[in-house]
Amino acid sequence: RQGYSTTVTNAMALVFEVLGRFNRARAARLTLPHHVCQTPLFMPVGTQGTIKGLTNSQLEDIGCQIILGNTYHLALRPTSELLDEVGGLHNFMNWQRGLLTDSGGFQMVSLLHLADITEKGVTFQSPVDGKPMLLTPEESIQIQNRIGADIIMALDDVVKTTITGPRVEEAMYRTLRWIDRCIAAHKRPHDQNLFGIVQGGLDPILRDICAKGLVDRNLPGYAIGGLSGGEDKNSFWRVVAQCTAALPEDKPRYVMGVGYPLDIVVCSALGADMYDCVYPTRTARFGTALIPEGVLKLKHKAMAEDTRPIDPTCPCMVCKNYTRAYIHCLVTKDAMGSQLLSYHNLYYMLQLSRNLHSSIVEGRFPEFVCDFLHKMVCSRK
Ligand code: GUN
Ligand code: ZN
Repeated sequence: RQGYSTTVTNAMALVFEVLGRFNRARAARLTLPHHVCQTPLFMPVGTQGTIKGLTNSQLEDIGCQIILGNTYHLALRPTSELLDEVGGLHNFMNWQRGLLTDSGGFQMVSLLHLADITEKGVTFQSPVDGKPMLLTPEESIQIQNRIGADIIMALDDVVKTTITGPRVEEAMYRTLRWIDRCIAAHKRPHDQNLFGIVQGGLDPILRDICAKGLVDRNLPGYAIGGLSGGEDKNSFWRVVAQCTAALPEDKPRYVMGVGYPLDIVVCSALGADMYDCVYPTRTARFGTALIPEGVLKLKHKAMAEDTRPIDPTCPCMVCKNYTRAYIHCLVTKDAMGSQLLSYHNLYYMLQLSRNLHSSIVEGRFPEFVCDFLHKMVCSRK
């Protein structure tokens, strides 16, 4: 057709409706193929197709709306052929709410330290048999199409923010080149949402080029990547502030691999909507509970005779039924200890997301943040 616009309009399988704002913070309804979610939104991480220590019905009980899976782990086991057979990961794991898969490259680079990135893709040694494997943007998307998550992530070239120099620029431009290969390979835009990932390290110019490049592709949502590793808080918050300002108002913004409760509050104030982090479940396995005052270490000997709940103000099943002393007893001896702590910690993160949402909708976000900071910072011993 003559005069056809060069801008590609990609199909979307989500609806993002902003319900309330406070300055840059927003609360929204995010309608996905499998679930209607409220933002700000915390997504628990389930690497092998499960959230360690919790059953699906427990996840539903605590109001979990969407969970995260990793392409790379799932492609190896159960394998994408089996996933095809059962009709995707939702059916395989019997989880009918939201699902997001990460593209796999980041996990290989950050977990295995064996990955080598070239223009073709990410080469790594299989942890199953040690053979070299190549994950290309096309393959990552093909696997994610088979997994069938509501949101799938582009394969990106991630470098640690502690690295500087030409490698950061190379990774950013490669991420932009790869997004086009991802878009071309994506076979299910009608029922799966491909998100692009802004890279560029701590360099505002590179971040800007990347954000603009991705926005030009008109994707259903955008992530801010490369931020969960070792940079100082000022740099971290500056990059988030810059990226959220550069991304569209009417699309979800996801800060990957973040974070701590305080980070989520700050990033939400800066206009971010979605988060994922292993922290609540990982720290639970080390015997640590998240509480409004910060953390509570259940292994500490002071817990041995403490008959209060983990958090007397928490209405979760664990806090209603068990004492600190009992959980102290379990943590080093029985898996139930970390299971109970994971339950409470995820409840805490999901409740924090819900409180952020309702305080923004109800016009009391500043009071909520003030109260949150007061408890978190002023009661530190
Ligand atoms: N998880 C945490 N950070 C990142 C990132 O930068 N890219 C991807 N793909 N996953 C992540
Ligand atoms: Zn609790």
